[in-house]
Amino acid sequence: MVWIALDERQETGHAMIDEDHLGIVGIINQLAAAIIQHQSKEVYDQLLDQIIQGTKAHFARENRLMAEYHYPKAEQHVAEHVKLVRESLELKAWFDAANAESVMTVSLLHFLEEWWNQHIPSFDQELADFLAAQKP
Ligand SMILES: [Fe+2]
Ligand SMILES: [Fe+2]
Repeated sequence: MVWIALDERQETGHAMIDEDHLGIVGIINQLAAAIIQHQSKEVYDQLLDQIIQGTKAHFARENRLMAEYHYPKAEQHVAEHVKLVRESLELKAWFDAANAESVMTVSLLHFLEEWWNQHIPSFDQELADFLAAQKP
């Protein structure tokens, strides 16, 4: 099950950033597959934790790159990362408390898809372009 497919829109051209994204999208697709197969809440939970931890680690890496290269738009981009982590944790808390797992998991996938389709082509692409221009 491929919930989110990779295309050139999601490829920023920065090797580390793209590799991170590929790893995270792989787990999102595993979660989508688990939902289709009606796996247990424990399985969803485990995958969700992996997505959140992987995302946090990835955002930290992007934030470090921005600091290292004195990225002029770092403030907005970092704020967007903070917002996305907060929203994903809220969703996770909601999921933990929810009975309607199918509704929850679908909401979650929509959230992840939105993150994937909106944050990467705008914020991450701009960052990748900036970083590419810094190289000698
Ligand atoms: Fe990213
Ligand atoms: Fe980002």
